[in-house]
Amino acid sequence: MSASDHQSLVEAARRARENAVAKFSKFKVGAALETPDGTIITGCNVENATYGLTICAERVAMFKALSEGHRAFSRVAIVADTEDPTPPCGACRQILWEFGGDLEVILANVKRETGRHQLKDLLPLPFDNRLL
Ligand code: THU
Repeated sequence: MSASDHQSLVEAARRARENAVAKFSKFKVGAALETPDGTIITGCNVENATYGLTICAERVAMFKALSEGHRAFSRVAIVADTEDPTPPCGACRQILWEFGGDLEVILANVKRETGRHQLKDLLPLPFDNRLL
């Protein structure tokens, strides 16, 4: 897919980022997941006073999507306001893999795309239900 095809997904992640609850880190992240029929489900990071119960934007998006009945996904866009790409953390890679499979992962900041990856390359040798 071309950069312009990704634009609406990236824009959705940028808008979601504005809702981030990140008063501790001040590091706001937005994520937008797309289903095969083009539905977009977004999430932002949510921090709280315990710090440890923080949940990343990617997992919020995925858990929202699952709770709304979605079960198949094709792409995820992740946006932060940094020059360097903000790739998903290890916990998010696991959850995205288990429920989304080999997603295309589009990384962007508030102005431009910063990277594009397949999730299988970000999570080599994954543990999942095929091994149970
Ligand atoms: N964070 C995300 O939401 N997604 C990422 O991909 C990286 C980190 C959040 C967690 C925490 O609220 C803040 O960014 C700083 O780590």
